[in-house]
Amino acid sequence: MDLFEAINKRHSYRAEFTSEIVPEKTLKKIVQAGIQAPSGKNSQSTEFIIVNKKELLTEISEIIGYSYLHTAPAMIAVLSDTRETYFDMTFYKEDYAAAVENILLSATALGYASLWIDGALRRENRAQRISELLHIPADRKLSVILPIGIPAEKRKQCEKKALEDRAWFNFYK
Ligand SMILES: Cc1cc2nc3c(=O)[nH]c(=O)nc-3n(C[C@H](O)[C@H](O)[C@H](O)COP(=O)(O)O)c2cc1C
Repeated sequence: MDLFEAINKRHSYRAEFTSEIVPEKTLKKIVQAGIQAPSGKNSQSTEFIIVNKKELLTEISEIIGYSYLHTAPAMIAVLSDTRETYFDMTFYKEDYAAAVENILLSATALGYASLWIDGALRRENRAQRISELLHIPADRKLSVILPIGIPAEKRKQCEKKALEDRAWFNFYK
């Protein structure tokens, strides 16, 4: 799939996945796209845990509480090293966002669907509970969970405002 087609087809998938497993080779290919992302001062502050064990997937989906999530055949947990990387600056949020978008686009290009689960992790101690489950050390922050699977239903990207309402040449508006 062409890059621009993947950009247009990528969407937040909030429905059940088919039972088709995602081969480990494919999961590694998708995560490699995240590894290739830029990072502030090339700190490569983002790390990944590829989860494909059924018991773990079930526990994570129970902690997050989205009903459709239990059907996900795989998930990628995105971790951050939150230390300062340039003077007193931290770039870990930008770093993980770049990695996540690469992962979402690659998954889309390969025919999979996903969802950027981030806000939901920040409630009810969920990130901490999942971190304990996945043995994430105290000096790493669980930033995002990305389910990966073949979508059982057809969904579309949310409507975006027109380019002329959000982008201008040379000066604002
Ligand atoms: C920083 C960030 C946090 C997000 N957190 C969640 C989340 O916790 N749960 C969820 O269902 N979607 C989450 N999303 C997905 C957005 O809701 C979604 O991208 C937005 O509604 C636009 O839809 P689209 O992805 O189909 O274009 C998050 C997206 C971003 C970028």
